Amino acid sequence: MSSSFSLTEATPQITQIARSIVFGVDKGGVGKTSLAANVAGQAAAAGYKTLIIDLDPVGALHNDLGYDKEDGSRLFDALRKGRPLPIIENIRPNLDVVPGGADLRDLQGILFARGQAPMEAFASLISASLGAIADPYDLIIIDTPPGDPWIAEGALCVATALVIPARPDDGTLDAVENTAKKFMRARHFNPDLRLAGAVMFGIGGASRRIARQTRERLTETLGEAAPVFETRIRYMETAAVDSRRRGMLIHELSPAVEESVKQRFTAFKSGKSVEDDKALLATDVGNLAKEYTSLTREIFTRLMEIEAEVNHD
Ligand SMILES: Nc1ncnc2c1ncn2[C@@H]1O[C@H](COP(=O)(O)OP(=O)(O)OP(=O)(O)O)[C@@H](O)[C@H]1O
Ligand SMILES: [Mg+2]
Repeated sequence: MSSSFSLTEATPQITQIARSIVFGVDKGGVGKTSLAANVAGQAAAAGYKTLIIDLDPVGALHNDLGYDKEDGSRLFDALRKGRPLPIIENIRPNLDVVPGGADLRDLQGILFARGQAPMEAFASLISASLGAIADPYDLIIIDTPPGDPWIAEGALCVATALVIPARPDDGTLDAVENTAKKFMRARHFNPDLRLAGAVMFGIGGASRRIARQTRERLTETLGEAAPVFETRIRYMETAAVDSRRRGMLIHELSPAVEESVKQRFTAFKSGKSVEDDKALLATDVGNLAKEYTSLTREIFTRLMEIEAEVNHD
């Protein structure tokens, strides 16, 4: 597919897209997609017109939001032809999505063949295709893959801010440092790019010491550049599994979880059991949902700070 196409010599310009946030870090499985999906969903539920873009060839975002998996061919086509990104409208009230998929990787050969840095070439494509649809949105969230570095770096070249998810394990700080290097490379093309902050993700609700140590290490690594957000997202595997099985965000799960707990109790009283595939695993997602709400508020506040700072410069 890629051999039949080459970009024209006049590469479109790289322009920053207002109110766009990349969720990215140089490490897999640290919460990028869960955070991106839930923050986007919370913003939409609060009344902000929100777009979420899946730039991961794995295309896993469909699990969190419950839309049909795509192969990425629509996204690939739009980018290579300089057309507007393909949108699924109203996946929730106020929430639109650009689905990802494996075909996105086919861009790589084209970008390398240009003799230009792939991140720069990808940035100019995303700048044009996202720029064409960005205007109506109050917030644009971009989920990025752990590999294929040209994708996250290219996205950073057009974004307003970066949010770095961090899990409390040994590889996290190295990953944060590597991400900071990517961030600096992107600033060459996008000088107004700012680090919004780091989010501590997947820390046990009662693990105060781990949380404190992780916060200290992150603060030391990031220095003055950005805050570590006050809100941390607790470890709750049951809710994570329920969410992806049902294609529902955490705050949307609450009524189903309550119903499931009731059914279990009724079944228990009558000596029967609830079929495993019908019952949800989580018994209370209220606190996790609240954490996503307050994280979303913090991110909005920080985004406004960044915009004020950049406009002032
Ligand atoms: N609060 C939570 N507690 C525990 N596990 C969670 C929580 N939220 C999500 N998870 C699970 O953690 C795993 C990694 O999350 P996620 O897919 O969001 O990370 P990622 O950084 O996007 O991964 P990848 O790099 O593969 O794209 C998933 O299996 C997800 O279901
Ligand atoms: Mg992901």
